[in-house]
Amino acid sequence: MAAAVGDWRLVGQEAALSSLTCRRLYARHGKSDDLVLVCVQGSFYAMEAWCSHMGGPLYQGDIEDFGDKLHVVCPWHGYTFDVRTGQNDLGIRQEVFQVKVEDSQVYVMYKCDLSTDPFS
Ligand code: FES
Repeated sequence: MAAAVGDWRLVGQEAALSSLTCRRLYARHGKSDDLVLVCVQGSFYAMEAWCSHMGGPLYQGDIEDFGDKLHVVCPWHGYTFDVRTGQNDLGIRQEVFQVKVEDSQVYVMYKCDLSTDPFS
């Protein structure tokens, strides 16, 4: 279940964000709070960016689409996480966050501002 803490944070235009399957979202609070935004067939999902196994960057991962299950594959050791629940078959999990699209803008329910570019 997606965490419902924080506020809706504007991430950007739906059309632009649909161009990548996995992208990094930088968090204003710092690197450890970054997220991965997944876009598959027009649907968006948000999850912690750093793999809970050993910290691999999930925004560099591949997506496995089984129809009813959608997984992001960690590029470091191949662990997979369900993008809807954050669950992994071995019992570790990622936190996931609600995403909504309104007026062609994508929002993530999160504790701090997010950006597709690093905060300076
Ligand atoms: Fe992701 Fe090991 S760091 S599977």
